[in-house]
Amino acid sequence: MIIETNSPLPRHPKPIILIGAGGIVNDAHLPAYKLAGFWVAGIYDTDREKALRTAERFDIPLVYLTPQDMLDRSPRSVIFDVAVPGSQILPVLQQLPDGAHVLFQKPMGDDLAMAREILDHTRSHRLTAGVNFQLRYAPFINAARHILAQGLIGDLVDIEVNVNVYTPWHLWKFLYSLPRVEILYHSIHYIDLVRTFFGNPESIYAKTVQHPGMPELASVRTSIIMDYGPMIRTNILTNHSHDFGLQQQHSYIKLEGTRGAIKIRLGVLMNYPHGVPDSFEYCVVENGKPREWRTLEIAGSWFPHAFIGSMSQLMLAAEGSIERPDNSVEDAIYTMACVEAAYESSAQGGIRPNF
Ligand SMILES: NC(=O)c1ccc[n+]([C@@H]2O[C@H](COP(=O)([O-])OP(=O)(O)OC[C@H]3O[C@@H](n4cnc5c(N)ncnc54)[C@H](O)[C@@H]3O)[C@@H](O)[C@H]2O)c1
Repeated sequence: MIIETNSPLPRHPKPIILIGAGGIVNDAHLPAYKLAGFWVAGIYDTDREKALRTAERFDIPLVYLTPQDMLDRSPRSVIFDVAVPGSQILPVLQQLPDGAHVLFQKPMGDDLAMAREILDHTRSHRLTAGVNFQLRYAPFINAARHILAQGLIGDLVDIEVNVNVYTPWHLWKFLYSLPRVEILYHSIHYIDLVRTFFGNPESIYAKTVQHPGMPELASVRTSIIMDYGPMIRTNILTNHSHDFGLQQQHSYIKLEGTRGAIKIRLGVLMNYPHGVPDSFEYCVVENGKPREWRTLEIAGSWFPHAFIGSMSQLMLAAEGSIERPDNSVEDAIYTMACVEAAYESSAQGGIRPNF
């Protein structure tokens, strides 16, 4: 059986202009573009030293002095690739020309109100804009979609994301001052992923909490239920405070269908930042045969390979192969609405038992 793990690629890749030269650009964007053969024509960061260091490391020919210098010296038809904190997305988009193609990092602003401002801006300035929800395009997710599309595991009825790891949050200093952390910056990937399988939920239940070992962070552990009615279960459970060694850490996405199941280990989150290998196991029910789990070897992972998929969506739209990116702001706004609902649910609390 041949299972497709690649995301669709553009026939005519456009040059990329990077805005932001931080951790994720160095660790994932640029390694992914190197693998895909995408050309990065220039880079700008308000911290010029970082831009210079990144340019040297990845052979980027131009380091711009200012946003205007970037526009003056950019090739005509490019994809702007913005990787700055959520609060900076709108100010950066306001610097780009009308009609530009732009991919920007999640989250789409700090909250739903900001996401709506960003959406309004992209509409009024005719930007073709997408959000870097790259988990959608991870090779193991492409494989799962392929298995589902072939009907091998029947109808999808259950998604569970379960992350029990120790995350060194101090690596992302900007998170310390923020009122929202875990759902907005991490579980947002899983909310977005669940939406790509089941669409928009009817409602959301959530509780997100702090941890005494990291009291300066707004929240580091979350439970989310996305409600799709009586026949579907979706649970997102994250605990980033499991500081008890690797032995009992786990991190997986489990998809259960009516005739089989898939379990994917997200190795990158375990023993961070070293990680452990991913794994992809699946079980297909065959009448009269014992239930058997098989392993599929998958080349590539969430980081960095999936970043090829999210950038490709912008390039496919720019070359006219698709009408608009699958990760368009027009879709991402629903993920942001789900994130907002999760925070509201958490603040509102559950039903008090009548003791
Ligand atoms: N998709 C993912 O899986 C993923 C993973 C990690 C981070 N991210 C997102 O990427 C964003 C950046 O994360 P990071 O870890 O690289 O942070 P970082 O702090 O390492 O880098 C951010 C960079 O943006 C620059 N910057 C800030 N405002 C700017 C502006 N107005 N113009 C130009 N440059 C500006 C900063 O100088 C800095 O170099 C965050 O929003 C984060 O949520 C996404």
